[in-house]
Amino acid sequence: MSPKGFCAIIAFMKTRILKFNGENPDTTIIREAAAILREGGLVAFPTETVYGLGGDGLRAEASAKIYAAKGRPSDNPLILHIADQEQLTGLVRSVPEGARRLMEAFWPGPLTLIFEKSDAVPYETTGGLDTVAVRMPSHKGARALIRAAGVPVAAPSANLSGQPSPTGGEHVIRDLEGRVEMILDGGDVPLGLESTIVDVTGDTPVILRPGYVTLEQIRTLLGAGEMDPAILEKPSEEMRPKAPGMKYRHYAPQAEMVIVEGDQAEVIRQIEELAGGKVREGKRVGILCAQESRGNYHAAPCKTVGTRAEEASIARNLYRCLREFDEEQTEFIYSEAFSEGTLGTAIMNRLVKAAGYRIIRTGGQSGKIQ
Ligand code: TXA
Ligand code: MG
Repeated sequence: MSPKGFCAIIAFMKTRILKFNGENPDTTIIREAAAILREGGLVAFPTETVYGLGGDGLRAEASAKIYAAKGRPSDNPLILHIADQEQLTGLVRSVPEGARRLMEAFWPGPLTLIFEKSDAVPYETTGGLDTVAVRMPSHKGARALIRAAGVPVAAPSANLSGQPSPTGGEHVIRDLEGRVEMILDGGDVPLGLESTIVDVTGDTPVILRPGYVTLEQIRTLLGAGEMDPAILEKPSEEMRPKAPGMKYRHYAPQAEMVIVEGDQAEVIRQIEELAGGKVREGKRVGILCAQESRGNYHAAPCKTVGTRAEEASIARNLYRCLREFDEEQTEFIYSEAFSEGTLGTAIMNRLVKAAGYRIIRTGGQSGKIQ
């Protein structure tokens, strides 16, 4: 059954939707939201990366509700969100030295660490794994909520399974109204891509999902670090990704999407040709490009995702653009590649998944997937 079909059979509930100032959160709102979490209910809230769909991570039945509300397979483990380092004790068997240094450098912030789990964390939260993912968000409102709840908050991205992660309050409302007790609408999130996930249970830290915290930063800090090879390639049976969620076709727009990469002039030529061909067949077509090349596209309506001069702008707007294409019922999307810079790996990881690994490589040098 499709995720949407699954969700359609859950009983409709009244969702309270409240405006939320993440920088200076209203204490009454925090108190009410925290009470819902403590009672086993669900609250969607902003973080600095994307919105999260929160429940009490130590209650099996709250985790079950999260999977049901998202229409998400229950073998896909949840991240526990904590407000301070003391909250980590009790959730994990040990904190390896490398993890301690990563926490000092990057917490609070967009970094999730995988530890051996303690008995306090139910298997319903970890999708049956003996490890647990933990993150301390830097978003003030998110931390105030977690602190007030007094429990680690299990929170996947607050989208229906298979939809792009929500980066604005209206995305969460569209996906989850009627499925959760409360939605805190804090406007647009600052980063727009999910956290970097690093497995610190082995001898070498391994990135399972790329994000703002990069492999280079981890190697500089620890002198070691690897990237899960399944990150940019289509995972084969032998190359099963270690983050169970990475094997699903996440971040997927409804359109068939193709990425064209290589020499810029050649990319523009190919996208124009492909888009023009589909337009002539009477299809609804969209082009996704950087501001720098915007003026070169005429074959189909074009969305500017951001500027190559500030790659964070591309990260911030990517999911919003994909959602807009869906709303416009776009059938075919042709996108430029964005593999340069420090965020290139994270952006391309999401983009190639959204495209179902359909990439056309033109002859030139630039824009290659590393
Ligand atoms: O930025 C983020 O991380 C956002 C915000 C809300 O904090 N959360 C988020 O959660 O992206 P979610 O559930 O959409 O993605 C969690 C990813 C999945 O790919 C899951 O498989 C992986 O983390 N994961 C969770 N626990 C794991 C574990 N014990 N071992 C390996 N991967 C794990
Ligand atoms: Mg997600």
